[in-house]
Amino acid sequence: MEIRITEFRSSEKDQLIKFLSSGYWQFHSTPRISKEKLETQYESGYFTGEGCRTFLIKDKNADIIIGVMRLFDLGNGKDDDETPLFDIKIKEELRGKGIGKQALKWLTDFVFTNYPNKLRFEATTRIDNIAMRKVFEHCGFMKEAHYRLAWPDAEGNRYDCTGYAILRSDWLNKTKTHVNFDS
Ligand SMILES: CC(C)(COP(=O)(O)OP(=O)(O)OC[C@H]1O[C@@H](n2cnc3c(N)ncnc32)[C@H](O)[C@@H]1OP(=O)(O)O)[C@@H](O)C(=O)NCCC(=O)NCCS
Repeated sequence: MEIRITEFRSSEKDQLIKFLSSGYWQFHSTPRISKEKLETQYESGYFTGEGCRTFLIKDKNADIIIGVMRLFDLGNGKDDDETPLFDIKIKEELRGKGIGKQALKWLTDFVFTNYPNKLRFEATTRIDNIAMRKVFEHCGFMKEAHYRLAWPDAEGNRYDCTGYAILRSDWLNKTKTHVNFDS
């Protein structure tokens, strides 16, 4: 499926909130997000405040949101060297069709192209989120961390959590540098 990615505009707030509140996000600590919580998050700058940018994934031929990516911890301004993180959510019926891989490739290019001082780009995901972990591997991210029982679900069960990152140098050279856990 061909997609296009656009930066979220405030005129799209209702569509954004509808998309996120109508989904079931199984691997997140809050699988269902209420409209009220999203409104509060929106007002507090969660999507577009300092250090945060939000992008909408759309079908190439339709102005309908099929996914959302939120970049955060970007720091203050283009030259900040803080390591950014991201979250990605794709509409349930459209998962497993390659959209996640295309979208993360786009986002990685975006970060390293637009922020010259970013040396790393990272994210965490629950151990059993196989689709996300495959997307990381496909997009050049390496597993760097394993946090035992660090991820609670809505019922209070605890899961291990994995941490992945890609280095600017690997992105530039299209390489994957081995992580030396024994040093
Ligand atoms: C995680 C997510 C972004 C991945 O996007 P996607 O469009 O589904 O991913 P893709 O289709 O590009 O690739 C997924 C890969 O995982 C595989 N996969 C998907 N579900 C799987 C499962 N349950 N078990 C094993 N493999 C699975 C796909 O076959 C594909 O494998 P491939 O690389 O061999 O082709 C998407 O599934 C999603 O939005 N999930 C809910 C929100 C979420 O968990 N976000 C991540 C928060 S950290």
